[in-house]
Amino acid sequence: MARLNSTSDLEELRQGILSQRDPTKPCITICSGTGCHAYGSENVAAAFRTEIEHQGLAEQIDIRRTGCHGFCERGTLVVIFPEEICYCNVQPKDVAEVVAQTARGNVVERLLYTDAATGEKVVHEHEIPFYKYQTRLVLGNNTKLDPKSIDDYLALGGYSALAKALLQMTPEQVLEEVKKANLRGRGGGGFPAGRKWETSRNAPDEIKYVIVNADEGDPGAYMDRSLMEGNPHSVLEGLVIAGYAIGSHEGYIYVRQEYPLAVENVTMAIRQAEEYGLLGEDILGSGFDFKIKVHRGAGAFVSGESSALMTAIEGRVGEPRPKYIRTAIKGIWDRPSNLNNVETWANVPLIINHGADWFSSIGTEGSKGTKIFSLVGKVNNTGLVEVPMGLTLKEIIYNIGGGIPKGKRFKAVQTGGPSGGCIPESLIDTPVDFDQLTKLGSMMGSGGMIVMDEDTCMVDVAKYFLDFLADESCGKCVPCREGIKRMLEILTDITEGRGKEGDIELLEELAEVIRDVSLCALGATAPNPVLSTLRYFRDEYEAHIAEKRCPAYVCKALVSYYIEPDKCQACMICLRNCPAEAISGTKNQIHVIDQSKCTKCGTCFDVCPPRFGAVKRLSGEPVPAAPTAKERVLARSK
Ligand SMILES: Cc1cc2nc3c(=O)[nH]c(=O)nc-3n(C[C@H](O)[C@H](O)[C@H](O)COP(=O)(O)O)c2cc1C
Ligand code: FES
Repeated sequence: MARLNSTSDLEELRQGILSQRDPTKPCITICSGTGCHAYGSENVAAAFRTEIEHQGLAEQIDIRRTGCHGFCERGTLVVIFPEEICYCNVQPKDVAEVVAQTARGNVVERLLYTDAATGEKVVHEHEIPFYKYQTRLVLGNNTKLDPKSIDDYLALGGYSALAKALLQMTPEQVLEEVKKANLRGRGGGGFPAGRKWETSRNAPDEIKYVIVNADEGDPGAYMDRSLMEGNPHSVLEGLVIAGYAIGSHEGYIYVRQEYPLAVENVTMAIRQAEEYGLLGEDILGSGFDFKIKVHRGAGAFVSGESSALMTAIEGRVGEPRPKYIRTAIKGIWDRPSNLNNVETWANVPLIINHGADWFSSIGTEGSKGTKIFSLVGKVNNTGLVEVPMGLTLKEIIYNIGGGIPKGKRFKAVQTGGPSGGCIPESLIDTPVDFDQLTKLGSMMGSGGMIVMDEDTCMVDVAKYFLDFLADESCGKCVPCREGIKRMLEILTDITEGRGKEGDIELLEELAEVIRDVSLCALGATAPNPVLSTLRYFRDEYEAHIAEKRCPAYVCKALVSYYIEPDKCQACMICLRNCPAEAISGTKNQIHVIDQSKCTKCGTCFDVCPPRFGAVKRLSGEPVPAAPTAKERVLARSK
């Protein structure tokens, strides 16, 4: 690779790459993100290589492996450019037909996405409802480039923002542009990135650091992983630009060890950028030096907290420390250290390329640009979605997510990761941005969005998240270490039928103390799941405590299953499926559940044919006495 010493070198290289590519030639792209990898995308890609060769089409068809497209549940995803013909669930056995039909300019109907609402096949990726309502500014290039190829990134205009910043702008101008864009941090509290950069820049120290937070500890969230795996150069480019603006010459990428593909791709991207002179000394002949190191984290949730992460980079246990002085001023080795989330960094080249005015034309008054969410839970289409700030929860869940499966009722959506909150159906028209979510007692966090249907118990949900946080608390401060555990004990009692009057008030009191006096934001935000469910679903807590009733029939200790004698047709289905062998009966004898053996798994309720509807769920009421042996036979012969 030739070293680039100026903008014209960069442009010449870009033109050289483009001149070797024919934009009209079919290019079969195979998603190789972690989701599709799990579906076997390696084998699909190998089959494409073999088949293209075998059919003698190497000159006519290009092939490219790409990062995650976001719609991982339909993997392996294959998109054929330039038309963007999208095939879902592709397997090696489909490959020969795809290659042959692509060469003839045809489409393989059976592999297209079928719109669940209309039953129609959709040919192009951007027309699939999951993608149609998205604005994929940050994620978009994931589908177009091979993350292992810097040339692919350059062909799409990559590193032009870096060239512009280094060679046409002063550091102050770059800083002003980011401040003007009002880019808010995508990893947690939404703090304005430009203001944090300025604090580090103004800190009186020669040595400063800029850091990428790719710890991503929220259960179910994988936005950052997909960006690091799928478009690592966009993150690097943002980081170098910030280094220039802040006056830092050294960057760290803190990425969790459990993300091996992200580690591999970003390490390769750094090497490639160094070879081109886009990293290292005298970048693009600008006189600016910058180097990046990758630090692999051990994967504790708390290590994503800024001071914990910096302590880990110093080589010590990744636990938080008191931040009497902010890490932007005293971070790694007490030097000014600016930490931003992966997605925050990936927005920076867009702002420099298109300008602050363009960026701030997208979004709401206080939250500009787009946000990537990990849309999961009880929703038809799950995956990564990128939307402009201000789209409503309803638009995300119904237009993009395709609504709730099996015709069930939407109950709540949990946003903001484990320390976020649950938003009820009555607020589903809320536009999603940093301030609105905080107002509702939740938060944006890094972008987790878990949809819940009518079968969800909100007390159980709060317990789940508190359980996670109790496990992940580093134990350094008493309120977090002991307080979360005490709250969890109370919730466990409530869900297991030992709830008592005064529990709700005690939860609220504990929540206030933990929030106010914990060492770091893990403790400070840990009560959120309880407080937000108490705010919107207090009646569920009261039903658990006063009536020993779980309205959603989730808390096993409060639920029983009972077979109604006059509805049972002795079909043997529940009996055969019961994993605990708790059901007795014969073809001529109505069935009875032995309550002492029943594990409350609900299988009998699920498998009883709807036309009989004989299995009843009970909560907050006694189980009726079982019919006598005589009644069981009589009932059957009726
Ligand atoms: C317990 C805990 C875990 C966190 N984990 C992450 C994480 O995995 N990724 C992240 O970007 N921010 C995480 N944060 C937020 C960071 O402390 C910090 O605010 C963020 O990385 C700053 O980047 P931003 O301003 O671009 O959002 C966490 C915070 C806490 C309290
Ligand atoms: S990994 Fe293929 S779509 Fe996400």
